[in-house]
Amino acid sequence: EKPITISKLLSMSAEGEKITMLTAYDSTMSALLNRCGVETILIGDSLGNVIQGHSSTTPVTVEQVAYHTECVARANSHAFVIADLPFASYGDPAQALDSAAELMRAGADMVKLEGGDWQIDIIQYLVERSVPVCAHLGLLPQSVHILGGYKVQGKSKDAANLMVEQALACEQAGAQMIVLEAIPSSLGRLITESLSIPTIGIGAGADCSGQVLVLQDMLGISPGKPPKFVKNFLDGQTSIEAAVKAYVREVKSGKFPGPEHGFAG
Ligand code: KIV
Ligand code: NA
Repeated sequence: EKPITISKLLSMSAEGEKITMLTAYDSTMSALLNRCGVETILIGDSLGNVIQGHSSTTPVTVEQVAYHTECVARANSHAFVIADLPFASYGDPAQALDSAAELMRAGADMVKLEGGDWQIDIIQYLVERSVPVCAHLGLLPQSVHILGGYKVQGKSKDAANLMVEQALACEQAGAQMIVLEAIPSSLGRLITESLSIPTIGIGAGADCSGQVLVLQDMLGISPGKPPKFVKNFLDGQTSIEAAVKAYVREVKSGKFPGPEHGFAG
């Protein structure tokens, strides 16, 4: 199969075909996601939670994301691979470029960072040096110690308008994709309509250009009570492969996320 490129993802979103993304951290799951037709694989710093057992993503290092990116890339045949720049690895442009280079050398096709109009210097610097960038707005897990918990973002009219401005600033700075996490479904739609780059939602409603979930969450094997936006796709299936195929099917058809997985404004 032909490798999925950013141009392919852009044309999919322009034509209204939903983009599927899941996280993976190892080669077995990378190969499985490829077999199931998942277009984009994210090596999320959620590995701090689901692989390392931390209660937040802040302990994760660039070296660790790079290691998991290598594991995923080795078994990847055609999915588009995105790796997270972890906490405090993009504090200034030079550091961001060093960190991003490590992830690209490990096999990433794009790097993701949390933010925001406050990151436009970093985004621009990376893109001008040929590093494709995905931004991330809404709930920003790397800021959990500032936010005081994992909370839905952009609920007030002002916060929503500000987030639209921030998303536009990211696009103008050269970001080619944006993840929207835990925001009202109406705001997910508004941001998606305002941008020409694909939006990938996680708890951002059905109107984003695509959807992402943490693999362990959508298999229902993460400990504790899952966030509202998670659906257990292994429920009623007899294999992990069937669960991932069900996810792809439901994202493509618009069945997932349903209204029950979304947040009100
Ligand atoms: O780290 C991660 O897995 C992520 C997704 C939840 C978007 O950033
Ligand atoms: Na992340």
